[in-house]
Amino acid sequence: MSISYEGKGKRALITGASAGIGAELARVFAEHGFDLILVARRREKLEALAEELARDMKTDCHIIVADLGDPAAPRAIFDEVTSRGLRVDALVNNAGYGIPGFFRDTKWEDQAALIQVMVTAVAELCHLFGPCMKARGYGRILNIASVAGHLPASAGGTLYSASKAFVIKLSEALHFEYLGTGVHVTALCPGFTWSEFHDVMGNREEMNRLPKFLWLDTNRVAREGFRAVMENDPVYINGFVYRLITWFVDITPDHLLYWLIGRQSGQKPTA
Ligand SMILES: NC(=O)c1ccc[n+]([C@@H]2O[C@H](COP(=O)([O-])OP(=O)(O)OC[C@H]3O[C@@H](n4cnc5c(N)ncnc54)[C@H](OP(=O)(O)O)[C@@H]3O)[C@@H](O)[C@H]2O)c1
Repeated sequence: MSISYEGKGKRALITGASAGIGAELARVFAEHGFDLILVARRREKLEALAEELARDMKTDCHIIVADLGDPAAPRAIFDEVTSRGLRVDALVNNAGYGIPGFFRDTKWEDQAALIQVMVTAVAELCHLFGPCMKARGYGRILNIASVAGHLPASAGGTLYSASKAFVIKLSEALHFEYLGTGVHVTALCPGFTWSEFHDVMGNREEMNRLPKFLWLDTNRVAREGFRAVMENDPVYINGFVYRLITWFVDITPDHLLYWLIGRQSGQKPTA
């Protein structure tokens, strides 16, 4: 049986829609007929994207400017959506970033904000919007994790890898909780992807030295992510190379992996 990707009359809320993978996901959802609610901190970027999509695809776009590092943000977003009389049929938890350097050398406030954005806000938005989707018998929840969530963590990866492993486990559990209800839940796991991510991390120069075959583009990541959630895959890893790496990790004994990671720890960039 073929599954309809049709989004006409439906609306997707996308966090981190001002750049990179989130902006591209907005374009892909719009192409399939979804109207949108775009969420991020940079209003001008959201406005430019909303203008582009309204002009090119006749998409009805709402903007909510929010800092997901603020513990009040998920509830405020939900209340704002409700007060505007909007319905969220698809939720994309995409906003994210990494913190450079070793855990021990960073400020706790920065680490706590990362947990808020990439763990707590993701779980809370699923908790707020999921039940409404179930009540209507249709929902799509796409949580952007990372291949880093599948690999053993290395020094400096710290809460980034841990948060992505959390997103994978949360998504798997919700996937099974919502089976048969019309609500699909998927964790998307890209590898290194060209976006603003590594500029924000401040390691662009180092990253540019990585071989080309390791890089994905945002369009491919977004298209595969959209298809994965429409087809209700619990977890989708972008790219053959990353599926191969994950498979290798799965079949390699832990002591060998730890030895390998110990040798290069601290040098492995975050994805
Ligand atoms: N690029 C990669 O190599 C890669 C690989 C695997 C997974 N990922 C994951 O993919 C997702 C998207 O990353 P990307 O590569 O597209 O990075 P990006 O180009 O830097 O985009 C990140 C987005 O997150 C938003 N954001 C960051 N902090 C926020 C906050 N406190 N509140 C609200 N929005 C916030 C940013 O918007 P504002 O700055 O306007 O708020 C921006 O729209 C992330 O979850 C990332 O971990 C990326």
